[in-house]
Amino acid sequence: MDKCLICDSEYSPFVDFGFMPIANAFATKEQIKNEYTFPMKVGFCGNCNMVQLVEQPEREKMFHENYAFFSSTSNYMEEHFKLFANSVSELQDLNEDSFVVEVGCNDGILLKNFIINHISCLGVEPSKNVAQVAMEKGIEVITQFFDRPLAERILQSHQKADAILSANVMCHIPYMHSIFDGVKTLLKEDGIFMFEDPYLGEIIEKTSFDQIYDEHVFLFSALSVNYLANMHDLELVNVEPQITHGGSMRYTIAHKGIKKVSQNVVKLIDQEKKLGLDKKQSYLGFTDNINKIKNDLINLLTKLKNDGKKVVAYGATSKSTTVTNYFGITPDLVGCIYDTTPIKQNKLSPGAHIPVLPYDQFRESEPDYVLLFAWNHATEIMKKESDYMANNRHWITYIPNVKVI
Ligand code: SAH
Ligand code: TYD
Repeated sequence: MDKCLICDSEYSPFVDFGFMPIANAFATKEQIKNEYTFPMKVGFCGNCNMVQLVEQPEREKMFHENYAFFSSTSNYMEEHFKLFANSVSELQDLNEDSFVVEVGCNDGILLKNFIINHISCLGVEPSKNVAQVAMEKGIEVITQFFDRPLAERILQSHQKADAILSANVMCHIPYMHSIFDGVKTLLKEDGIFMFEDPYLGEIIEKTSFDQIYDEHVFLFSALSVNYLANMHDLELVNVEPQITHGGSMRYTIAHKGIKKVSQNVVKLIDQEKKLGLDKKQSYLGFTDNINKIKNDLINLLTKLKNDGKKVVAYGATSKSTTVTNYFGITPDLVGCIYDTTPIKQNKLSPGAHIPVLPYDQFRESEPDYVLLFAWNHATEIMKKESDYMANNRHWITYIPNVKVI
């Protein structure tokens, strides 16, 4: 039995992916020789309802000066974070005396919107290369991991925060109690802590199993976040669904008893109970659902190969590391992956070793089929490529099931 990272209860895993590499460890042929792997299993804690990775590689193996994920690669995400900043400003009535902290600010995609409006802000970002890009946008960044001791230091050097924000970061951090203690320390009495992450309800409903990889130690729900907040004398006061990352949830947390709890929270918790997210049995069919996608996709790719069709992939996402490695997709089935991120280009994908090529070469490659690894950006990408793909070329998607478009 394993011990829950939140409440210390015993639980057992419901899905086992075998050994997986670091999802963002794109590397050259020379670098890739001694590739690190870890056993990737996910379990559900029946006491606090947290869904979690049983084991996670140490944080320095994932977040460092060569981190490959840059936030500002999608126009849609740029717009999403602009709207996020605006809604925080409105909600907290932010002005030039206010102070905003972001945990995991990456290249500054969110905070730059506060800078434009002259609202003081601070980013905390341990991956130095992406932090550097944020600094070049005029954002003050501390290049360390956020935790309680760092929150105390920020309090000494700065001030209490009107808003602590985080997107696609909380689910990366196993030491949640230190984070919540830090938030409690740093947050003004009427401040808010808002974070968003891929949502467990959507992951189960869509079988978007590729949200599971080394960095994603937690798959949150309102049930589990509510439990966690209560443990720290904080309160979950709102939940707002987002369409980002294939279905996310934005959680708003405040000091207990300060803000009115929205009916959204009550409704979502009720809905989650109806869906059975608080029961182990609800997770037992997940592996079968993944394996159905696996069989359908491998059969399709094998048939296309036998028919002499050219298949390439689009978007060297972290998610695709789980797909390629768990499904056994090798370069003979998918020749290469095109991606706009310079640090990923001319490297091999983790584990499966599929070459990643610059996006600029995509159109020259003249594929018959394009496997869309960045399926969460389907609307943006399919629109961008519509002319090119109209010419008797097809997209392949696989969440929630395999489809040729
Ligand atoms: N907020 C951005 C980035 C998400 S990627 C977005 O939504 O696009 C996750 C980021 O979290 C990485 O940049 C990583 O370096 C950072 N991170 C991981 N652990 C952290 C911690 N303890 N404190 C602050 N940032 C952390
Ligand atoms: P994302 O889906 O945000 O990723 P992750 O699974 O890593 O959280 O990553 C998108 C990837 O797709 C990123 O490497 C950039 C790439 N991309 C393109 O190549 N072209 C595009 O038009 C878009 C939107 C993304």
